[in-house]
Amino acid sequence: MLSAVERKIEQFITELGDKEVSTLYAKLPAGKRLRAKLILKIAGNHLTAVKTAAVVEMIHAASLLHDDVIDDAYTRRNKPSLNALYGNKTAIMLGDILYSKGFFELNNISTEVAKIVSNAVVQLSLGELGDVSLSKTFNVDKSRYLKMIYQKTASLIEASAGAAAVLAGKPKEAYLTYGRNLGLAFQMIDDILDITQDAETLGKPALHDFVEGKTTLPYIYLYEAMTDEERVKLESLHAKVLKPEEQLWIQAKMKEYHIIETSYLEAKTLIEEAISLMSAHGEASLAGIAKEMIEREF
Ligand code: FPP
Ligand code: MG
Repeated sequence: MLSAVERKIEQFITELGDKEVSTLYAKLPAGKRLRAKLILKIAGNHLTAVKTAAVVEMIHAASLLHDDVIDDAYTRRNKPSLNALYGNKTAIMLGDILYSKGFFELNNISTEVAKIVSNAVVQLSLGELGDVSLSKTFNVDKSRYLKMIYQKTASLIEASAGAAAVLAGKPKEAYLTYGRNLGLAFQMIDDILDITQDAETLGKPALHDFVEGKTTLPYIYLYEAMTDEERVKLESLHAKVLKPEEQLWIQAKMKEYHIIETSYLEAKTLIEEAISLMSAHGEASLAGIAKEMIEREF
């Protein structure tokens, strides 16, 4: 029933009565719609669930439009990003339009759902600020990384599951935890793929995060495993454009210390926890979405 969500988003965009916005929106790749799938799976396919899913996907799309400006990213899902096609100003404004229309529609759902979703947007904005701040230093503090990915990514997935539970009259807490675990695992996998996937699959240069100054989970574990000498070298490469041999050195060290396996296991453990929590609530069908988070390739 994801097509109902696509139609609802299109309807919200058409209501704006602005041709340019419709044209720009049509340029955005739809993405995996994981948050929408989660909402419909938990709350069912009724109109309020479809509206909530549409709002959440609009907010998510807005956050990615802004994120690509912040990250100087010229591709998104293997296509030119909107900032690459039309410049930063247009990308920021389209983000603002999607975001504010989404908020307007949120008012027509319910106060509790509106509170859950709007609070997540505060968190995701704080998380993005945290990401930018952390990338200015060589951060090897795992708890700061975890807090930042919780805010930046897990908060909206947590809110999607929680809001859907509210709509369906199901116990909110368990669903919030399920969504939080999914979100944390999702971002961990995103950070792993930045290291393991080739540039073509990713649609961005490999090791882009480290070049951008981001020391994600694999770098934190790598630093922990390294000798003092290796640590000095790793730190000296932080936030710099890497020569091919430097890239290969990082990737070889990741291999030597089994960093990808360790990081992947952490994401997998969160997913397994989420799945068993949901099966305890008779929601075995939510296992599929959880598995999608860790089995994806980009
Ligand atoms: C992607 O992270 C970014 C996010 C999940 C959140 C971005 C949030 C904002 C820009 C706050 C603004 C919010 C609104 C609603 C306008 P990433 O760069 O690690 O992942 P990527 O590989 O997908 O780029
Ligand atoms: Mg980004």
